[in-house]
Amino acid sequence: MKTKQHLIIALDKITVDRALEIAEQLSGKVWGFKVNDLLVKEGPSIIKKLKPYGRVFADPKLHDIPNTVANSVSVLESAGADLITVHSSGGPSMLEAAAKSCGQSKILAVTVLTSLSPKECQSVYLKKPALLVPDFVKLAKDSGVAGVVCSPKEIESVRSLVPEDFIVLTPGIRPAWYQKTDDQSRTSTPSVALEAGSNLLVIGRPVCEDNNPLAAVKKIEKELA
Ligand code: C5P
Repeated sequence: MKTKQHLIIALDKITVDRALEIAEQLSGKVWGFKVNDLLVKEGPSIIKKLKPYGRVFADPKLHDIPNTVANSVSVLESAGADLITVHSSGGPSMLEAAAKSCGQSKILAVTVLTSLSPKECQSVYLKKPALLVPDFVKLAKDSGVAGVVCSPKEIESVRSLVPEDFIVLTPGIRPAWYQKTDDQSRTSTPSVALEAGSNLLVIGRPVCEDNNPLAAVKKIEKELA
C-alpha cells in the first residue's frame, strides 16, 4: 500500500478523542500522524497517546536560538516523536544544535511554507521560492539534518541537490477528487508528488474533514495505484 509507505495525516483542529479515533481507524494504513495544534494544546503527551497507532511527526516548526531549540527537540524526542520540524531560516547553528540533540528522532528543516505565494515569498525573503528553496536545502544538508519540508512544486529541484537517503517531505498535497480551495498555494496531487521524488506526503483537511477518513484514505490509495 502506497499510503502505508508514504502518507502522513495531519490531525489538525480536532479534539484529542477525535484524533485518537481517526488514528485507530487508519492504523496500519498510513505511515503516521502529524500533530501541531494538538501538540500546543496537550503537550508531548499527545505523542505518547498516538504512538500505538503509528509513527508520530511533531510539527512545532521551531525557530529560536540554538540552545532553546535543542531543549525543545530533546523534550519531543523523549516523548517518542519520529520526526520534528525546525525552520531552515533559523540558520546553521540552530539546525546543527537540533540535529545534535535529536537522539532517535529525525529533524526536518522547513524551507518555504507551502501557503506562501511566490509574491509573498519575495516580499518576506526578497527571493522567489525557486531561488530560495535550493539555498535552504543546501543549508539543511550541510547542517546535518535528516531532510526538508518543501512544496510539491519544488521536489525535483530539491532531489537534484541531496543524497538519496535525504528525506523530502511535502505538505500542500491535494487529491484530484478534493475540490475545495483554502490557504494552501503551491500544491500537487499525491501521485504527481510521489513521481517527482517526495518520500512522505502530508494531507490534513481532505482526510480529517471527511465524515469517513478511512474512505478518504482508500480514495487516495486508489488514486496512487
Ligand atoms: O490540511 P492540509 O492538508 O493543508 O494540512 C497541511 C499540514 O502541513 C498542516 O498541518 C500544515 O501546518 C503543514 N505544513 C504545511 N506547509 C509547510 C509545513 C507544514 O502546510 N511548509
